[in-house]
Amino acid sequence: MNELSNDIESILIDAEELDSIVRRIASEIDADYAHIDGRKNHLLLLGVLKGSVVFMGDLMKHIKTPAEIDFMKVSSYGQAAKSGGSVNIILDLFRRDLPETDILIIEDIIDSGRTLAYLADYLRLKGARSVRSVTLLDKPDRRETDFEPDYKGKIIPDEFVVGYGLDYAEKYRTLPYVGILRRDIYEK
Ligand code: IMP
Ligand code: MG
Repeated sequence: MNELSNDIESILIDAEELDSIVRRIASEIDADYAHIDGRKNHLLLLGVLKGSVVFMGDLMKHIKTPAEIDFMKVSSYGQAAKSGGSVNIILDLFRRDLPETDILIIEDIIDSGRTLAYLADYLRLKGARSVRSVTLLDKPDRRETDFEPDYKGKIIPDEFVVGYGLDYAEKYRTLPYVGILRRDIYEK
């Protein structure tokens, strides 16, 4: 048994449910981007490091629309169990073909909404042809902006969750499910 699992209070989304969420979102994306021919314009799956990597890896296998992948890394002040403050770009996106690029930002979770709101504005300002976003998880109770992602996996209660890419202090990303982290782990 994986030792990390001792820190999990309960499993919120198991591997089977994650798989069906991913397949459902992939078909929604394929339906919406059916116009993309890969010559005049192309789809770019843009993962937000590091939390989105497991979700993105699964999602991209099911998306049939031809797509390229890239990554950005951002950080908001006050990491750990709270997010908030402003957003810093740590790894930027450099491409000359943004006017022909339809960007789909891939996030693990939307909380205050600041990260996605900021990134979407930033990429539009940089000249992307279109910008949409997908998030695996949504905690609407914590929203501080009016940002709404275009595609959503699952709405979850206001609990701190880890696994399937999501971390607490860089741990738990490798768990194959999304679980609620025991409060005593982060309220020390
Ligand atoms: P936002 O900018 O407040 O929407 O925060 C989004 C970011 O906060 C996510 O990309 C995560 O890195 C982090 N985050 C928010 N809630 C959780 C959680 O429950 N578990 C792990 N990371 C979280
Ligand atoms: Mg993140």
